[in-house]
Amino acid sequence: MKAKFPFAFCLLVVLAAGLGATRLSSREKPAPAAQKAQKNAQKAPAAPSASQGQIDRGKYLVENVGMCEECHTPRDSSGNLDESRRLQGAAIWIMPVHRMTNWSMRAPALAGLPGFTDAEAETVLEHGIGPNGLPIQPPMHVYHMAPSDAQAIVAFLRSMPNAYPRN
Ligand code: HEC
Repeated sequence: MKAKFPFAFCLLVVLAAGLGATRLSSREKPAPAAQKAQKNAQKAPAAPSASQGQIDRGKYLVENVGMCEECHTPRDSSGNLDESRRLQGAAIWIMPVHRMTNWSMRAPALAGLPGFTDAEAETVLEHGIGPNGLPIQPPMHVYHMAPSDAQAIVAFLRSMPNAYPRN
């Protein structure tokens, strides 16, 4: 019986220490979260509707996954992409092996997304349906992108300077 008291006392001490520790850590937690919120608030004026992370992801998808520049960026006389006119619309230079009546000979400008609403551009990328409600014409791919990917691409394209009007 006697031995039980020190054991119970020890248990109490351990419990109390544990409780103190969780209190401490829960007290510490709000600080970094508040700092993060403050940082985001500072970033907000530069990009009111899209985060920098979303724009960066859109850039990666456009340049390294969707390869949009292959068709939407014009080429110089040697056939290299003219990066000074990045995504500003281009003539299509690839031809189908078999005759296709709906083959499109021009890829429109995407930089700044002139002439599209965000929703229209997202519908193209998620469902392959153009702003006129018709299926998008080849050689434009019928992508079935996840909405978050389509939104990231739209955020990146909107962030680009809209140097030229829609062509
Ligand atoms: C193989 C060539 C090719 C590639 C690669 C390509 N596009 Fe296109 N894109 C086209 C062509 C051609 C059209 C015009 C289609 C039409 O007239 O229906 C088009 C049309 C579009 C349209 C709709 C424009 C409109 O007025 O209807 C959007 C938006 C678009 N592309 C975005 C993209 C994005 C974003 C990527 C990369 C993820 C991409 N495209 C990759 C060739 C391409």
